[in-house]
Amino acid sequence: MASDETSGKDLTAADSSGVEHGTAAAGTAVVARDAVANPGFPPHRPRVTDLDPRKEKQAERAVYTLFYLSIVGSVFAIAAYMIFPIVPEDPGSVRLNNLFIGIGLALALLALGIGAVHWGKALMHDEEGIDERHPVRGTDETRARAVEIFQEANTESGFGRRTLIRNSLIGALVVFPLPAVVLFRGLAPQDQDPVALLKQTMWEKGTRLALDPSGAPIKASDVTLGSSFAVIPEGLMDLEHGRLEEKAKSVVILVRMKPQDLIESPERASWSYDGIVAYSKICTHVGCPVGLYEQQTHHLLCPCHQSQFNVADEAKVIFGPAKRPLPQLPIAVDAEGYLIAQSDFLEPVGPSFWERQ
Ligand code: FES
Repeated sequence: MASDETSGKDLTAADSSGVEHGTAAAGTAVVARDAVANPGFPPHRPRVTDLDPRKEKQAERAVYTLFYLSIVGSVFAIAAYMIFPIVPEDPGSVRLNNLFIGIGLALALLALGIGAVHWGKALMHDEEGIDERHPVRGTDETRARAVEIFQEANTESGFGRRTLIRNSLIGALVVFPLPAVVLFRGLAPQDQDPVALLKQTMWEKGTRLALDPSGAPIKASDVTLGSSFAVIPEGLMDLEHGRLEEKAKSVVILVRMKPQDLIESPERASWSYDGIVAYSKICTHVGCPVGLYEQQTHHLLCPCHQSQFNVADEAKVIFGPAKRPLPQLPIAVDAEGYLIAQSDFLEPVGPSFWERQ
């Protein structure tokens, strides 16, 4: 018989009402006798609006004033749409238009919401009731009737009897989604292998690291302690086609910290230069650009779903939904002191989909 070490009581299986069902094996016993007692409802406290008719009137006024305010907000938004039209090629007009429509809609929604909540809390009936739970399972009759309906449908349709029709229908339903697969394949470039396209970036041995978006190459001596930059391969801005696609794969975040703060595995010891490290800027969760660098902790935050990477420790994930570290770009300096890549990334950048291949 199992026993509770602290109380010395025997543990016996019991249902929630405390009814014991006999001795249970250790680890399966349910102790109902020590369960927290149902505290019940606290004593009912009437609201001021229940006790004082003047307060009730005041609350009523507040609610309809808020609803009128909401109407004003909506009308204001319509007026703003007409008064501040969007003029093509004029970003200022877009800003004004969005600002005033936004103010109107925000006022309308806010007043509507506050009015509804205030109405519910201060004026609607304040009674506490108990809603008993009922078993989810249907009655035996309902369940028997459901089986009967299925059997009737089977008999009437001949689904079980006409095997040729049944099998061809199942086949048709299985094949039906296949055109979608073929159509999706059509989204990828026809003449190139899409896997290779996603795996390779513009980085290669000797490519200089350049500032984004100017494209100016960066000297190691220009990277100050604690700074972080978005970096692209030199020459990317000169591409005539596919510039954005290439940038989306090869953009890198460059960070400098004290060399003694870096935790590097032996195989990566030569991938950094004097405390300067470069990591892919594409989050390994679903591919947002990471970019919020906290120089005291060396943590890098992805704003989309709050994944955090420790740049000092090979960009390992320390929080959030990302499943693998940011890929590191091995870097060095050339004879003129410019930062260069030692090679392309040694693993695919972007979402961890790649890990599941
Ligand atoms: S994309 Fe970065 S955390 Fe989701």
